[in-house]
Amino acid sequence: MTITHEDELDGLKTIGRIVANTMHAMAKAMEPGMTTRELDDIGRALLDQAGAISAPEASYDFPGTTCISVNEEIAHGIPGPRILAAGDLVNIDVSASKNGYYADTGASFRLGPVTPAVDQLCRDGKRAMQIGIAEVSANKPLANIGNAIGKFARKRGYTLIRNLASHGVGRALHEYPEEIATWPNRDTRRIHNGLVLTVEPFLSRGGHFANQARDGWTLHADPTAPVVQYEHTVVATHRGPIIVTLPG
Ligand code: CO
Ligand code: CO
Repeated sequence: MTITHEDELDGLKTIGRIVANTMHAMAKAMEPGMTTRELDDIGRALLDQAGAISAPEASYDFPGTTCISVNEEIAHGIPGPRILAAGDLVNIDVSASKNGYYADTGASFRLGPVTPAVDQLCRDGKRAMQIGIAEVSANKPLANIGNAIGKFARKRGYTLIRNLASHGVGRALHEYPEEIATWPNRDTRRIHNGLVLTVEPFLSRGGHFANQARDGWTLHADPTAPVVQYEHTVVATHRGPIIVTLPG
Protein backbone atom coordinates (compact mmCIF):
# COMPACT_ATOMS: atom_id res chain seq x y z
CA MET A 1 0.00 0.00 0.00
CA THR A 2 0.95 3.64 -0.20
CA ILE A 3 0.56 5.71 2.95
CA THR A 4 -1.08 9.06 2.20
CA HIS A 5 -2.64 9.94 5.58
CA GLU A 6 -1.47 9.89 9.18
CA ASP A 7 -4.31 7.57 10.23
CA GLU A 8 -3.07 4.96 7.73
CA LEU A 9 0.38 5.12 9.30
CA ASP A 10 -1.22 4.74 12.75
CA GLY A 11 -3.17 1.66 11.59
CA LEU A 12 -0.01 0.12 10.19
CA LYS A 13 2.02 0.92 13.31
CA THR A 14 -0.64 -0.71 15.49
CA ILE A 15 -0.44 -4.06 13.69
CA GLY A 16 3.34 -3.64 13.36
CA ARG A 17 3.67 -3.42 17.14
CA ILE A 18 1.37 -6.43 17.60
CA VAL A 19 3.35 -8.75 15.30
CA ALA A 20 6.67 -7.57 16.80
CA ASN A 21 5.48 -8.08 20.38
CA THR A 22 4.10 -11.51 19.46
CA MET A 23 7.33 -12.63 17.82
CA HIS A 24 9.50 -11.46 20.71
CA ALA A 25 7.21 -13.01 23.33
CA MET A 26 7.33 -16.32 21.46
CA ALA A 27 11.14 -16.16 21.30
CA LYS A 28 11.28 -15.48 25.03
CA ALA A 29 8.96 -18.39 25.79
CA MET A 30 11.00 -20.89 23.73
CA GLU A 31 12.63 -23.66 25.70
CA PRO A 32 14.09 -27.09 25.01
CA GLY A 33 11.45 -29.83 25.15
CA MET A 34 8.67 -27.59 23.85
CA THR A 35 7.03 -28.46 20.52
CA THR A 36 6.71 -25.92 17.74
CA ARG A 37 2.92 -26.37 18.06
CA GLU A 38 3.08 -25.22 21.68
CA LEU A 39 5.14 -22.22 20.62
CA ASP A 40 2.62 -21.39 17.90
CA ASP A 41 -0.23 -21.66 20.44
CA ILE A 42 1.46 -18.88 22.43
CA GLY A 43 1.55 -16.76 19.27
CA ARG A 44 -2.11 -17.50 18.54
CA ALA A 45 -3.17 -16.47 22.06
CA LEU A 46 -1.26 -13.19 21.80
CA LEU A 47 -2.69 -12.30 18.39
CA ASP A 48 -6.22 -13.20 19.59
CA GLN A 49 -5.76 -11.05 22.69
CA ALA A 50 -4.68 -8.10 20.50
CA GLY A 51 -7.60 -8.58 18.11
CA ALA A 52 -5.29 -9.51 15.22
CA ILE A 53 -5.76 -12.21 12.57
CA SER A 54 -2.96 -14.49 11.34
CA ALA A 55 -2.22 -13.48 7.77
CA PRO A 56 -0.79 -16.77 6.39
CA GLU A 57 -3.73 -18.68 7.83
CA ALA A 58 -6.40 -16.26 6.58
CA SER A 59 -4.77 -15.45 3.22
CA TYR A 60 -3.22 -18.79 2.22
CA ASP A 61 -4.76 -21.46 4.47
CA PHE A 62 -1.37 -22.01 6.08
CA PRO A 63 -1.75 -24.79 8.70
CA GLY A 64 -0.60 -22.64 11.62
CA THR A 65 -0.81 -19.14 13.08
CA THR A 66 2.88 -18.32 12.66
CA CYS A 67 5.69 -19.85 10.61
CA ILE A 68 8.28 -21.67 12.76
CA SER A 69 11.30 -23.02 10.90
CA VAL A 70 13.98 -25.01 12.74
CA ASN A 71 17.58 -25.56 11.62
CA GLU A 72 17.45 -27.07 8.09
CA GLU A 73 14.00 -25.52 7.60
CA ILE A 74 14.51 -21.94 6.44
CA ALA A 75 10.98 -20.58 6.01
CA HIS A 76 7.25 -21.47 6.08
CA GLY A 77 7.83 -24.21 8.67
CA ILE A 78 4.54 -25.70 9.89
CA PRO A 79 4.07 -25.70 13.68
CA GLY A 80 3.69 -29.29 14.86
CA PRO A 81 5.12 -32.10 16.98
CA ARG A 82 8.79 -31.19 16.39
CA ILE A 83 10.52 -30.82 19.75
CA LEU A 84 12.86 -27.87 20.22
CA ALA A 85 16.33 -28.69 21.52
CA ALA A 86 19.19 -26.63 22.96
CA GLY A 87 21.40 -25.36 20.16
CA ASP A 88 18.54 -25.07 17.64
CA LEU A 89 18.34 -22.11 15.28
CA VAL A 90 14.65 -21.16 15.21
CA ASN A 91 13.10 -18.73 12.75
CA ILE A 92 9.81 -17.22 13.87
CA ASP A 93 7.87 -15.26 11.26
CA VAL A 94 4.71 -13.46 12.35
CA SER A 95 2.40 -11.69 9.92
CA ALA A 96 -1.10 -10.57 10.81
CA SER A 97 -3.82 -8.03 10.12
CA LYS A 98 -5.99 -5.73 12.19
CA ASN A 99 -8.64 -3.33 10.86
CA GLY A 100 -7.50 -4.20 7.33
CA TYR A 101 -3.83 -3.32 7.90
CA TYR A 102 -1.15 -6.00 7.50
CA ALA A 103 2.38 -6.16 8.90
CA ASP A 104 5.06 -8.84 8.64
CA THR A 105 8.14 -9.47 10.78
CA GLY A 106 10.54 -12.33 11.29
CA ALA A 107 13.82 -13.23 12.96
CA SER A 108 16.10 -16.18 13.60
CA PHE A 109 16.66 -16.95 17.28
CA ARG A 110 19.27 -19.11 18.99
CA LEU A 111 17.88 -21.54 21.56
CA GLY A 112 20.75 -21.61 24.06
CA PRO A 113 24.36 -21.65 22.92
CA VAL A 114 25.13 -22.28 19.24
CA THR A 115 28.42 -22.50 17.35
CA PRO A 116 30.41 -19.25 16.90
CA ALA A 117 29.77 -19.53 13.15
CA VAL A 118 25.99 -19.52 13.67
CA ASP A 119 26.33 -16.65 16.16
CA GLN A 120 28.18 -14.65 13.53
CA LEU A 121 25.64 -15.56 10.85
CA CYS A 122 22.85 -14.21 13.10
CA ARG A 123 24.66 -10.93 13.71
CA ASP A 124 25.42 -10.52 10.01
CA GLY A 125 21.88 -11.49 8.99
CA LYS A 126 20.53 -8.63 11.10
CA ARG A 127 23.14 -6.34 9.60
CA ALA A 128 22.15 -7.40 6.07
CA MET A 129 18.53 -6.43 6.82
CA GLN A 130 19.62 -3.05 8.24
CA ILE A 131 21.74 -2.37 5.15
CA GLY A 132 18.71 -3.09 2.95
CA ILE A 133 16.40 -0.91 5.08
CA ALA A 134 18.86 2.00 4.80
CA GLU A 135 18.19 1.99 1.02
CA VAL A 136 14.43 2.49 1.48
CA SER A 137 13.74 6.10 0.58
CA ALA A 138 11.31 7.92 -1.74
CA ASN A 139 12.59 8.22 -5.33
CA LYS A 140 15.46 5.75 -4.87
CA PRO A 141 15.77 2.73 -7.19
CA LEU A 142 14.17 -0.43 -5.77
CA ALA A 143 17.25 -2.34 -6.96
CA ASN A 144 19.45 -0.51 -4.41
CA ILE A 145 18.08 -2.70 -1.62
CA GLY A 146 19.33 -5.98 -3.09
CA ASN A 147 22.47 -4.46 -4.53
CA ALA A 148 23.56 -3.06 -1.14
CA ILE A 149 22.78 -6.36 0.61
CA GLY A 150 24.58 -8.29 -2.14
CA LYS A 151 27.70 -6.17 -1.74
CA PHE A 152 27.76 -6.83 2.01
CA ALA A 153 27.19 -10.58 1.57
CA ARG A 154 29.93 -10.92 -1.04
CA LYS A 155 32.44 -9.02 1.07
CA ARG A 156 31.83 -11.36 4.03
CA GLY A 157 31.73 -14.55 1.95
CA TYR A 158 28.03 -15.23 2.39
CA THR A 159 25.40 -16.34 -0.11
CA LEU A 160 21.81 -15.11 -0.42
CA ILE A 161 18.74 -17.23 -1.09
CA ARG A 162 17.62 -15.93 -4.47
CA ASN A 163 14.06 -17.15 -4.75
CA LEU A 164 12.68 -15.77 -1.50
CA ALA A 165 11.94 -12.13 -2.19
CA SER A 166 10.79 -9.23 -0.05
CA HIS A 167 7.39 -7.76 -0.97
CA GLY A 168 4.88 -4.98 -0.79
CA VAL A 169 2.52 -5.22 2.22
CA GLY A 170 -0.05 -3.09 4.08
CA ARG A 171 -3.55 -3.86 2.74
CA ALA A 172 -2.67 -7.49 2.00
CA LEU A 173 0.21 -9.75 3.05
CA HIS A 174 1.69 -9.69 -0.45
CA GLU A 175 0.94 -6.84 -2.85
CA TYR A 176 2.53 -4.25 -5.17
CA PRO A 177 5.41 -4.06 -5.95
CA GLU A 178 5.22 -7.86 -5.46
CA GLU A 179 8.70 -9.38 -5.53
CA ILE A 180 11.60 -7.22 -4.33
CA ALA A 181 15.05 -8.78 -4.73
CA THR A 182 17.37 -8.88 -1.71
CA TRP A 183 20.26 -9.96 -3.96
CA PRO A 184 22.11 -8.19 -6.81
CA ASN A 185 19.55 -7.27 -9.49
CA ARG A 186 18.59 -4.86 -12.26
CA ASP A 187 15.04 -3.96 -11.25
CA THR A 188 14.30 -0.62 -12.97
CA ARG A 189 11.42 0.45 -10.70
CA ARG A 190 11.67 3.26 -8.17
CA ILE A 191 10.42 3.47 -4.61
CA HIS A 192 7.65 6.06 -4.26
CA ASN A 193 6.79 8.15 -1.23
CA GLY A 194 4.65 6.24 1.27
CA LEU A 195 5.30 2.78 -0.20
CA VAL A 196 5.03 0.00 2.39
CA LEU A 197 7.32 -2.98 1.92
CA THR A 198 9.22 -5.68 3.77
CA VAL A 199 13.00 -6.06 3.79
CA GLU A 200 13.86 -9.68 4.56
CA PRO A 201 17.13 -11.02 3.16
CA PHE A 202 17.90 -14.72 3.71
CA LEU A 203 21.63 -14.78 4.46
CA SER A 204 23.42 -18.12 4.24
CA ARG A 205 26.73 -19.90 4.42
CA GLY A 206 26.39 -21.58 1.05
CA GLY A 207 22.66 -21.82 0.27
CA HIS A 208 21.47 -20.31 -3.03
CA PHE A 209 17.85 -21.37 -3.40
CA ALA A 210 14.86 -22.48 -1.33
CA ASN A 211 13.21 -25.78 -2.21
CA GLN A 212 9.73 -26.77 -1.12
CA ALA A 213 9.28 -29.95 0.92
CA ARG A 214 6.59 -32.55 0.19
CA ASP A 215 4.28 -30.97 2.77
CA GLY A 216 3.72 -28.15 0.27
CA TRP A 217 5.00 -25.45 2.65
CA THR A 218 8.34 -26.00 4.38
CA LEU A 219 11.35 -24.59 2.55
CA HIS A 220 14.88 -26.01 2.71
CA ALA A 221 18.13 -24.50 1.48
CA ASP A 222 19.71 -25.79 -1.72
CA PRO A 223 22.48 -26.73 -1.28
CA THR A 224 21.96 -27.56 2.40
CA ALA A 225 23.50 -24.79 4.53
CA PRO A 226 22.69 -22.64 7.58
CA VAL A 227 20.33 -19.76 6.75
CA VAL A 228 18.98 -16.84 8.80
CA GLN A 229 16.24 -14.36 7.99
CA TYR A 230 15.46 -11.01 9.62
CA GLU A 231 12.43 -9.05 8.47
CA HIS A 232 10.85 -5.68 9.14
CA THR A 233 7.92 -3.89 7.53
CA VAL A 234 8.96 -0.35 6.53
CA VAL A 235 7.45 2.78 5.00
CA ALA A 236 9.47 4.80 2.46
CA THR A 237 9.53 8.56 2.97
CA HIS A 238 11.56 11.48 1.61
CA ARG A 239 13.51 11.39 4.87
CA GLY A 240 14.22 7.67 4.68
CA PRO A 241 12.57 4.53 6.12
CA ILE A 242 10.09 4.28 8.99
CA ILE A 243 10.21 0.82 10.60
CA VAL A 244 6.71 -0.13 11.77
CA THR A 245 7.41 -3.61 13.20
CA LEU A 246 8.96 -2.45 16.45
CA PRO A 247 7.98 -3.90 19.84
CA GLY A 248 6.50 -1.56 22.38
CO1 CO B 1 7.45 -12.72 7.17
CO1 CO C 1 7.47 -11.23 4.35
